Amino acid sequence: MSLKKIAVLISGGGSNLQALIDKVHKKSAVIDIVISDEEDAYGLIRAKNNDIETKVISTKSYSSREEFCTALMEEIDKRDISLIVLAGFMKILSKDFMHHFKEKVINIHPSLIPSFCGKGYYGIKVHEKAIEYGVKLSGATVHFADEKADNGPIIIQKSVEVKSDDTPKKLQDRILKIEHEILPKAVELFCEDRIEINERMVVIKDNKGEVI
Ligand code: GAR
Repeated sequence: MSLKKIAVLISGGGSNLQALIDKVHKKSAVIDIVISDEEDAYGLIRAKNNDIETKVISTKSYSSREEFCTALMEEIDKRDISLIVLAGFMKILSKDFMHHFKEKVINIHPSLIPSFCGKGYYGIKVHEKAIEYGVKLSGATVHFADEKADNGPIIIQKSVEVKSDDTPKKLQDRILKIEHEILPKAVELFCEDRIEINERMVVIKDNKGEVI
């Protein structure tokens, strides 16, 4: 059976994209295209270094978010894509986009959702807020994306302890390490048809189809 094709959307460094390239690409899925909304995103170089097609679709070229999202949709629709992975993609996608690709979009967020997520919580800001609040645990979440930011059913979460001498950067670095484990794992589970969505509950099955 041929591997499922995925599209990865990025905005920056692309360390999560790199984890997908190292752990998933040509093993449990094929990264068919990497799309960035930022032309200088380092993740584009990571993709090119691995002969993966890239495309820049910038909000600057469109007069509204809807038009920008339609361009993204059209690019993805040209291909036979089974899954869209938001790997550090910093734009909020339109309702139409989410409707069009219902249950086919997953996102990685650097906190334990529903803490420190939603509008205004992205990148280093998430870790600044977690430290400011004084939480003892933080972590990362991979979830299905829906019409609301950081809201859809959770696939995998993993926690890390927050230390008293943590800076946002130190915490970010530790959390990125677990992001690089759980994002490839979630993509693998999806591409092996081992995920079922039951309302808000994501059910994961083993290789034999048994619920785990
Ligand atoms: C990651 O920490 C990702 O979880 C976060 O941006 C970073 C991107 O890093 N995403 C969000 O904050 C989305 N709300 P990367 O470009 O090195 O993968």
